[in-house]
Amino acid sequence: MIHNRMRMALGLTTALMSVGTLAAAEEMPPEQSLSGLEYELIGRGDIYAHGSLGSYSQAPMLDAMVASGALPPVEDRLPAEPIVFKTGAMVDGIGEYGGVFRHVIGGRPEGWNWMAGQHQGWGGINMAMQECLVRQGPRWQVKAEDQTGPLPNLAQSWSWNDTNTELTINLMQGVKWSDGDAFDVEDVRFWYEDNVQNENIASRMAKDSFGGGAAMEVIDDYTFKFVFASPQAETIVENLAYIQGCPGPSHILKASHPDYADGATYDGYTQALPNDVLPPVVLGAWVPVVHRPDELVIMRRNPYYFKVDESGQQLPYFNEMHFRLSTWGDRTAQAVAGTGDFSNMEDPGNYVEALKQSQDDASPVRANFGPRVLAWRLTLNLDAAGAEDEGEKALRMLFRELDFRKALSHALDRDAIGQALARGPFAYPYVGGFATGSPYYDAASSVFTPYDQAGAMALLDGLDVTDTDGDGVRNLPGGGDNVVISVEVGDNANADRKQLEAIASQLEEIGIRINIRTVDQTTADTNFTGGAFTAVMGRENVILPTRESCRSWPAGPSCPHFNDGGDRLPFEEEMAAKLAAFQSTSDAEEQAALARDLQRIATENVYTIGSVQVPAALLVNKRIKNAHPGTPVFMYEWAEDGVIRERLWTPAAMQEEEVLPDTIAEY
Ligand code: GLA
Ligand code: CA
Repeated sequence: MIHNRMRMALGLTTALMSVGTLAAAEEMPPEQSLSGLEYELIGRGDIYAHGSLGSYSQAPMLDAMVASGALPPVEDRLPAEPIVFKTGAMVDGIGEYGGVFRHVIGGRPEGWNWMAGQHQGWGGINMAMQECLVRQGPRWQVKAEDQTGPLPNLAQSWSWNDTNTELTINLMQGVKWSDGDAFDVEDVRFWYEDNVQNENIASRMAKDSFGGGAAMEVIDDYTFKFVFASPQAETIVENLAYIQGCPGPSHILKASHPDYADGATYDGYTQALPNDVLPPVVLGAWVPVVHRPDELVIMRRNPYYFKVDESGQQLPYFNEMHFRLSTWGDRTAQAVAGTGDFSNMEDPGNYVEALKQSQDDASPVRANFGPRVLAWRLTLNLDAAGAEDEGEKALRMLFRELDFRKALSHALDRDAIGQALARGPFAYPYVGGFATGSPYYDAASSVFTPYDQAGAMALLDGLDVTDTDGDGVRNLPGGGDNVVISVEVGDNANADRKQLEAIASQLEEIGIRINIRTVDQTTADTNFTGGAFTAVMGRENVILPTRESCRSWPAGPSCPHFNDGGDRLPFEEEMAAKLAAFQSTSDAEEQAALARDLQRIATENVYTIGSVQVPAALLVNKRIKNAHPGTPVFMYEWAEDGVIRERLWTPAAMQEEEVLPDTIAEY
């Protein structure tokens, strides 16, 4: 399969390379997909549903703890109606308990307080700890007619009033945190009112970005509602999925929150759960119990996890989960070598080699290509009023000029950038807006501002951005300073850096200088979400308008992060209205039309400077069962969510030895 696809893929090289010779066409060149897998789509209720079973059982390692009284019996730890995973949707069926799932990641846990925006190192560790009100990842497998809105999770069900201005949410009853404390509406209220809506806290959902600042009303311990200023629809509920709608333990966090604790500061609150104090209290399937900096995080099963299989076995199947703290490149190398179990292959630089190795029958790993969902862009900060000095302000004023953004886009030879990343037909031009793998992408609505150096230079001349002092770099209008743009790039992202280097040399050719600023991933993330940058080169997977929307769209008063001062360009106002309309309808055709409008406005205004987009391949070790081969690296969410890890398992004979057998997190 893979072998054939690779051969087909490599045959395309010449066809693709000739694309660069197209004249300054405004239409996207034809795209060739590399994804060849076919599988059946199922109904949303076929994956899992809330319900109660007659009896429950648990991982054998927990039996002794229950017998000694250290843990309550499994039926007392589970909610009244746990989430039940359907056997029919499991490609290998009901699992066996035990063993280790081995992740390798390039990130480092910043801390455990995700409510204050801290990440835990990415690569699936955040998601292994956090559970959110609703779930998006598994939707890649859901058939079109069932696609409206997210899948339930902690929010068991919800309903609308007649005018669609009130959304009433029923939480699961009897879910417990990993320390045994009850999860209830107070955790959700604390998340929304005291974190999201508190502008001093950098929560992942920006203040007032959920339905224009929906108000929350608590009804009882397990029921609450959001009241919106205007009618909404199922789509808006998608905002309550990972990474935005994931409550933290209010019973722990209030002790450090300024609204609850005398003398507490916001800085102190953000740092309240430092990465060297374990175990944190979570709702996820596994709990971090060991963190050796730059080496390893070990997680152990959460005995209070609220999901089961149809035979009543409490999930997850794996007792232990490892996150080796390495590099993203090493994640792929280890998956190929069989010393890691999973990788989102996302650096095209190692695609050919990794695929060649995984074709071998003896290879420990399976590889599957999906659609193009990894898209890189140069993002310019458009917030001129928020600039900290005059020089920065002058630059951002220039960024606000459409002709300047167009000039930068015309300066980019995207075929050369793609070939610098990897030889072969992997890269396709990215013009901003939705990636081509998005269900909302439309080629005809994508305005392409293609490679055209002469055109780029004419636009710059027209803006009076010329080299007034003859040093080879164009100057700001009126003979100002040289146009030197500082661009941040993460220190652990090979593909980002390679593209930025190519872009810098291409911009040099039209007289614009790039000053590459390498920063660590956590700093890059904090700077980006805080709007503290001149320009950023990075990957943004724009697939849905409702996922991490503040990164790409004018989704709230302080969005996007690259124009967070509220001084919107006229087309941004137009986009904000389209986005609001998108979220407030469930009509798929209306949504598709609105998405086309968003795509057209974003691309004709060169909102961001797109570079290239590539498909990604998912690598999963062959001993891992229930990893559906159709799982995309990214679609509604990253593969770590889409593959449903709580349901993965390995036959006992093939299990890796646990480092901390027979233990759970102790509080
Ligand atoms: C990082 C990785 C992705 C994915 C996500 C999950 O961004 O690069 O492949 O694992 O983390 O959050
Ligand atoms: Ca100059």
